Formats: sequence, structure tokens, C-alpha cells
Amino acid sequence: MIRVCVAGATGWVGSSLLPAVDAAPDLQLVGAVSRGAAGTPLGSLLPGFDGDVVVSGTVSQALERRPDVLVEYTAPESARAHALEALAAGVHVVIGTSGLDDEDFEAIDDAARRHGVGAIAAGNFAITAVLLQRFAEEAARHLPAWEVIDYSSDLKPDAPSGTAREVVRRIAAVGRPELRVAVEDTQGEPAARGLTMHGTQVHSVRVPGFVIGLEVVFGRDNERLTLRYDGGSGAEPYVAGTLLAVRRVGGIVGLRTGLDEVLEGT
Ligand SMILES: NC(=O)c1ccc[n+]([C@@H]2O[C@H](COP(=O)([O-])OP(=O)(O)OC[C@H]3O[C@@H](n4cnc5c(N)ncnc54)[C@H](OP(=O)(O)O)[C@@H]3O)[C@@H](O)[C@H]2O)c1
Repeated sequence: MIRVCVAGATGWVGSSLLPAVDAAPDLQLVGAVSRGAAGTPLGSLLPGFDGDVVVSGTVSQALERRPDVLVEYTAPESARAHALEALAAGVHVVIGTSGLDDEDFEAIDDAARRHGVGAIAAGNFAITAVLLQRFAEEAARHLPAWEVIDYSSDLKPDAPSGTAREVVRRIAAVGRPELRVAVEDTQGEPAARGLTMHGTQVHSVRVPGFVIGLEVVFGRDNERLTLRYDGGSGAEPYVAGTLLAVRRVGGIVGLRTGLDEVLEGT
């Protein structure tokens, strides 16, 4: 039985994760974190839950219940601290929260190795997003130029999205896109060319009506290939990938980013 604590238990993803963890025969829900619901019995968030768990207001309180895995789905400003706290307590972490940068991931990897535990972080735990990353890597081997457009609702506080950050990191391992006019040589406003991440131009659109989406547009003279991912309005795709990571994270030491390597083992 893997003992699981969900940080972000009342959120869009967290509230879908609770029943999924509770229903899994190999997982036991031993903790939940939300500041607003702190002190309330978990059964009030999860009808039918018969365990003796009270929602914690902080991750440190929740760690007293000695989970094996902390699942982190809170907010960009709290995710790193929560992950480091759990790792220092010898607890594996699965991080879904977006907005972490390369420096955050280095600190998490370092802490995980020091404490001999595992961490899996994915900017997007949905299988379709993982497939887009793989296809994008393949396309980058054959096409010289590409840019990324990241779509989300106007309520998303962070940019670029975790999905965009991850795909850019993955493609950067293959190579850098060719820019025939350097961004700094743009006539007019170089800012209009977007953010340069690992050599790739990234454009974040934040407009009501989107949940989350990503396009990677590849091109060479006289042809173009667009890879597109669209997330729907339910959190199920992220829940399935997250549970897979929860089951796998105990077998690794250090940080893995992306769900790919985890999927390979299935
Ligand atoms: N990797 C993926 O596949 C994936 C998929 C979807 C979303 N995400 C990312 O996951 C994160 C959460 O998304 P969401 O849509 O579920 O967010 P949400 O609906 O805003 O929920 C956030 C949850 O975290 C709790 N929380 C926030 N700050 C906290 C803190 N400092 N300490 C303790 N609890 C805190 C909130 O409860 P209280 O306010 O009561 O504390 C709430 O339960 C976002 O960064 C989002 O971009 C990732």
C-alpha cells in the first residue's frame, strides 16, 4: 500500500485526485492539504471516505502522517517549498504544479538525491501532451525552425505554462531552431517575437474560453507542420498520469521531468 498525501486537495485537479486515490486498491489516502479547508474532516471533501484524516493547512502538518508520496498540485509560489520540505522528510514527491523553472528543478533534484528519494515533475500529465512532446522531438530532428504558442484561460497566473516549458526543454535537447533574423535585429518591437527559452520563441496567449492548449509550429521553405494539443474541461487526463507517477516514484532517486520515462516502464 502506498501512503499518499494530496497538497491542493480542494483544487480543480486535487478534488479529482482524492476519489481516484481513495478508489485505488494499492493506494491509501493519508493526508490532504488546503488552507481554506484546514481542520475539516476529509470526509467532508470526499463523501464516503471512512478514514481518520483531517485536512491540514500546511504541508509540514500533513507530513506528520508519514505519507510515502506527496502529490503537489497547489500554486507556482508554494510548490518548490512544499517539494523541498517533503524530500527533506524522506518523502517522494510527484509535482504537477506549473511555473517551476530550471533552477527550481535543479534544487529539487539536488534535494532528492541528498535524501535518497524520488521526484517526478511533469508540466502536463496527460497522455496526449506527452505524445505531443515525443512527436515534437522527432519533428525537430528533421525541420530547421519552430516556435511554440501556449494557450490558457485568462485566469492562469503563470506563463509560459508548464506544458510549454517542458516541450521547449525537450526540443532543446535535439537542437536550436534556425532564426534567419535574430530577435534583437527585429525592426519595430523585439518583444513582439515572444520569450526566448532555450533558443525557442514562446508566445503565451491568455484568453477566456481556453483551458489549456499548445501548438508547436515547425517550418522550412514552402512547407509547415503544426502539432497541437488541446486539454478539455475535466481533470481526468491529469489524474491518470499522476497516479502512474505516484506508483513509479518510489523506484527512483533524484528528479525525472516528464512522464515519458515513467510510461516506458508500463
Ligand atoms: N501537470 C499537469 O498535468 C497539470 C494539470 C492541471 C493543472 N496543473 C497545475 O497544477 C496547479 C494546480 O492547478 P489547479 O487548477 O488544481 O489549481 P486550483 O484549482 O487553484 O487549486 C489549488 C489548490 O491548492 C491549494 N493551495 C494553494 N496554495 C496553497 C498553499 N500555499 N498551501 C497549501 N495549499 C495551497 C488550494 O487550496 P487553499 O487555497 O484552500 O489553500 C487548492 O486546494 C497549477 O499550477 C496548474 O497550472 C498541472
